[in-house]
Amino acid sequence: MLKAVGSKKNLFELPFYTYISDIFENEEIQKLANFKHHIYTTRLQHSLNVAYYNYLICKFFRLNAVSAARAGLLHDMFYYDRKDYSKENGEKSHSARHPEIAVENAREHFYVDPLECDIIEKHMWPMAIRRVPKYKESYVIVFVDKYCAILEVIAPKYQKLKSKFKK
Ligand SMILES: [Fe+2]
Ligand SMILES: [Fe+2]
Repeated sequence: MLKAVGSKKNLFELPFYTYISDIFENEEIQKLANFKHHIYTTRLQHSLNVAYYNYLICKFFRLNAVSAARAGLLHDMFYYDRKDYSKENGEKSHSARHPEIAVENAREHFYVDPLECDIIEKHMWPMAIRRVPKYKESYVIVFVDKYCAILEVIAPKYQKLKSKFKK
């Protein structure tokens, strides 16, 4: 069973999965499972969470939900531990740099259209202030990425608390 944080649905059984399966089943994306992300989860699970909520919101607003899902899965495609990132002379911060790395990696392994590129590159706005989103879908990920980060931190704590009260 494949789930997104905060959802009980089996993603394998949804049309959503058919739009991202080629990326999700690729070994380059699966490598993201080796990296911790937002304390309690992995970068792969976080990327899947973002892909799913990007898809739902964009579908609701009749935007390009398929590109939003695919770009969501690719938006943090970088292979280092965040705490190991060190700024060399004149280099950008992790917040500004990792979307660029993600686009480079995504392009190397998959076909990424201009909308998907913009979604990936701009997902850290306004923290990366100069990268202003060009499309509505790019604003959606700005919100969804933060929403998922909060859920990913809160959900395990909530589950722990819930099981404590059940005893
Ligand atoms: Fe990111
Ligand atoms: Fe992210």
